[in-house]
Amino acid sequence: MLPIGSLMKEHRVVEKSLKLMILEKERMDQGNIDVDAVRALIDFITVFADESHHGKEETILFPALRGKNRSYEFDEITSNLMKEHASIRNHLRTIKNAFQWFSEGDRESAETISRELGEIAAIYTNHVVKEDNLFFNSAMKVLSEEEKEEMLCAMDEFDLDFTINHYEKLIDDKYAALADSSCKPDKP
Ligand SMILES: [Fe+2]
Ligand SMILES: [Fe+2]
Repeated sequence: MLPIGSLMKEHRVVEKSLKLMILEKERMDQGNIDVDAVRALIDFITVFADESHHGKEETILFPALRGKNRSYEFDEITSNLMKEHASIRNHLRTIKNAFQWFSEGDRESAETISRELGEIAAIYTNHVVKEDNLFFNSAMKVLSEEEKEEMLCAMDEFDLDFTINHYEKLIDDKYAALADSSCKPDKP
């Protein structure tokens, strides 16, 4: 498999999440909100799309293309793709804040969540098309077989480390919360 194979598979999952984002946005615009679905989207964009998928692109794929400018300006296109990742991250931060305020009773924050989900869906739709239709294939053409092999191993390693670290942190956090609550005296 080519190193872009797993990234493209991940794009298909991202596309499914985009449908959910648009659906949730429409629901919110009609005055309804599915809190669990919004929470799941926030978790998905944070962990799967940003930390894991963008993580692999930014730390493995993009750096391997640095300086490989021929008929295609990799330095310029990777810098633009990074800017789009940063923009998605900014919108996500706004959604997280708004969701927190909403959870604390500020119902008007639903408007911000809806608007920002729409922004992310719009940026991401173009971003995925750009990477899938031109960037990934051009990238594979300028890498040697050895570089592609190394990249595949690096991505597998990233995925394994990422999964271990993610779940280890989850268990540690739950354990810490449980240990903390068991130290507190019972209410009279
Ligand atoms: Fe990307
Ligand atoms: Fe991507």
